[in-house]
Amino acid sequence: MVPQWIIEKKRDGGQISEADIRELIDLYAKGEIPDYQMSAFLMAVYFKGMTFDEVTALTDAMMRSGDVLDFSSYGCLTADKHSTGGVGDKLSIPLAPLVAAVGVVVPMISGRGLGITGGTLDKLESIPGYNTQLTTEQFSEVLAKVGCSIIGQTARLAPADKKLYALRDVTGTVPSIPLISASIMSKKLAEGAAGLVLDVKCGRGAFMKNRDDARTLAKTMQAIGRGMGRNVVALLTNMDSPLGEKIGNTLEIEESIDVLKGKGPADICELTMALAVEMVLLAKLAETPEEARAKLEIALKSGAALNKFRDMVIAHGGDPRVIDDYSLMPQAPVKLDVCAAAAGYVETIDADAIGRMVLLLGGGRRQVTDSINYGVGVSNLIKLGAEVKPGDRLMTIHAASEPEANALIASACDAVKLSSTPISAPTLIYERI
Ligand code: URA
Repeated sequence: MVPQWIIEKKRDGGQISEADIRELIDLYAKGEIPDYQMSAFLMAVYFKGMTFDEVTALTDAMMRSGDVLDFSSYGCLTADKHSTGGVGDKLSIPLAPLVAAVGVVVPMISGRGLGITGGTLDKLESIPGYNTQLTTEQFSEVLAKVGCSIIGQTARLAPADKKLYALRDVTGTVPSIPLISASIMSKKLAEGAAGLVLDVKCGRGAFMKNRDDARTLAKTMQAIGRGMGRNVVALLTNMDSPLGEKIGNTLEIEESIDVLKGKGPADICELTMALAVEMVLLAKLAETPEEARAKLEIALKSGAALNKFRDMVIAHGGDPRVIDDYSLMPQAPVKLDVCAAAAGYVETIDADAIGRMVLLLGGGRRQVTDSINYGVGVSNLIKLGAEVKPGDRLMTIHAASEPEANALIASACDAVKLSSTPISAPTLIYERI
């Protein structure tokens, strides 16, 4: 293979053959194609796109760059959910134990924070002792014992994606529909769940800023999955404003546990339930959405879902006492309320701005090697449509020090836009695909 000929073909809008894509990925994963040539190829894809056959070949090559897990012994019972990432999106944490409590087996491989979007693994690591780095064998053992397990991508799972993702992150080639589709689906297909629910986020706090792009991304991923024999359903959901009232690692674990205790914020509860219904249907544990919802509600009310979460935490070496005592997780020493200067109705809460605030407080990474401050973030976030008077609280900043909290007051105020007329509640789920 002569890599520059492949790059030139894509640069000029040509179609790359399946064999060439496979060889390109194989050689790159082995370190035999340098980053500078792969960067040029990625940029050519960014500008020229890919045909569906090319994206399928790319996904397949990336999936086969490592282990492909096999949970076929569970039949159709395995189902997973993947979100394209958003601010305050902690849904995986209550969702996995909730659906496991009704019999779905959930092998979930999650990521760390990316840019302004928090990562499920970082959040789970706020629980003292929780080990996200299980081997494939330990992962299978937890699944057999508990029914759900959330771990990080192992070195053996889609390693080509790990390398390509890191390169895309620093070469301006992340927001490309073929590249995102292949990246997500290569991992999800390697992970071996029979059913997959995609939560494709769209809006200010998401990679896809408009609904048309989000729909194209959802349909591309669905077609790849179906072509490889998986059942895939996608929900297009709103990511203009952060989800829930708490953003930050410990804070989002608190809110996830609240959902399992039946007292989470309405948007998080509604979205968790909608995704859970889809997973139960994919696992064929209910025939209608109403039947699935009824089973899930029983699991919540009876405490079965919370018990599953407890079992998962214990199986991962975590301290289950956090469920009853949130102060056992890292907490920020400074809490500062930010209040409204004027009266009005909350029209928008800029998810992107809130995500940046949490990152600046130390809740996310500026560089891959940065460590996280688990306790920092934002709580008591006002909801869209709420009526506020001057002096009413808009949010509470949790910071490591007073200067760090004070430095973000202006950004916090700017993030919340007020309208003089009442605002109706936003649509949370745009469509099902
Ligand atoms: N999440 C992924 O795993 N990959 C992408 O490319 C974007 C979001």
